[in-house]
Formats: sequence, C-alpha cells, structure tokens
Amino acid sequence: MDVLLETAQAETEAPALPRIGDPAPPFEAKTTQGMLKLSDLAGKWVVLFSHPADFTPVCTTEFVAFARRAEEFARRNVQLVGLSIDSVYSHLAWLRNIEERFGVKVPFPIIADLDMTVARRYGMIHPKEGTTSTVRALFIIDDRQVVRAILYYPMSTGRNIDEVLRIIDSLQTVDREKVATPADWHPGEPVILPPPQTQADLQARLERVEQAGYECKDWYLCLRKA
Ligand code: BEZ
Repeated sequence: MDVLLETAQAETEAPALPRIGDPAPPFEAKTTQGMLKLSDLAGKWVVLFSHPADFTPVCTTEFVAFARRAEEFARRNVQLVGLSIDSVYSHLAWLRNIEERFGVKVPFPIIADLDMTVARRYGMIHPKEGTTSTVRALFIIDDRQVVRAILYYPMSTGRNIDEVLRIIDSLQTVDREKVATPADWHPGEPVILPPPQTQADLQARLERVEQAGYECKDWYLCLRKA
C-alpha cells in the first residue's frame, strides 16, 4: 500500500491519545494491590508507567530502581503505578522474585492490563514494537489529573529515575513559583522568569534588574535565585 495512504489510514484508525495538558484518561483497573481508580488518586501526583513484560531483565532493573526510590516519590506527593499486559498472578510472582533476588519490596501497585484497556487509552502499545506488549511509556499526571509530561523509551533502554524526579521537581516548582526551569536544572538552582509579554513589562523588568537581583542574559532570558 502507498505509504501516504497507509499513514492516513493509521491516523484515522488510531484512538485519540492523551497529550500534555489533556485530562488524564480515567481508568478502573485490577492491580497487585486490588482495584484502582485513577479518580481515587486526585490530590496526588501520579507516575503511571508501562513496561513490556514481567520477568524480563531491563524491566526488573527498572522495578528495583523505582522501588528503591519510592520514598523520594512519596515525599513529592507522587503515587507510582506500574502497568503491563500480564496477569496479576504473573505480577505477584515477579514481585516475590524481585524481593528474593534483590531484597527489595515493590511498594506501589502494578496494573494487570490483560484486556489492554488502559494501555490502549494511553497509547502504550506501539504496534511495530509488539501488538500484545506495552513499550516503556511514562505519564506524569498532576494532582488535578492533568497530563503534564509524557516519556517514551525503547524496549532496550531502562529509564532514568533521576530524570523522572527532576521533571516532577521542575513541574511542582513551576506551579508554585510561576517560573520555568533551564536545561539540566536541579532544585536549588536559579529559575527562569517568564518572558515579558508587553513593552511596558519589558521596560519594568529592565528597570528592576539590579534591585531584584535578576541575572539577565538579555531582556527575554532572566534568571533569579530559587
Ligand atoms: C527487558 O525488559 O529486558 C526487555 C523487555 C522486552 C524487550 C526487550 C527487553
């Protein structure tokens, strides 16, 4: 089939996928900790992440890494939720194996998405990678249940937990202080002031630079202490 036609057909058939700023698609799902409704987590931030399969090497290292840092997520009011297209029995056996082999208890729920309802709703299945398994998708959902960040990693690359925490720190700082954060930012480092939107704002900023202690590279790029 013509590539353009195939792409157009795929686009018309593909479900609408959540994008940044969209309400997080609701779900009610079976997990290793009982039934879980996304709406029950309102008021908390949620990191919903899928993995391709239980008992696979890269996924195992990710679960050990997430579990070891679960406290750091909890301190940020974040609920971790895993997901794969495996049964709850498989998840339970795998978690037991992780505890035996690594001495780590996984304290967060894992969705057993056997009918792929949640995976499809969140666009976690990328057919060219596999039609019955999820890729490494990760959604950061805020305390008002809005999608704030989306990450996709290939099957062969384990995720970077530091980066997930860093994005959450950035988003929570942005919400609290109405600023933005620069490349490679970490908490405690200078933050970016929103660029002025009018000539009057621009002029006011230039007049305030010294007194306010801003560090301005130019009128549109000003940093202040955290
Ligand atoms: C893994 O977790 O090791 C893995 C899973 C699916 C495909 C490739 C690697």
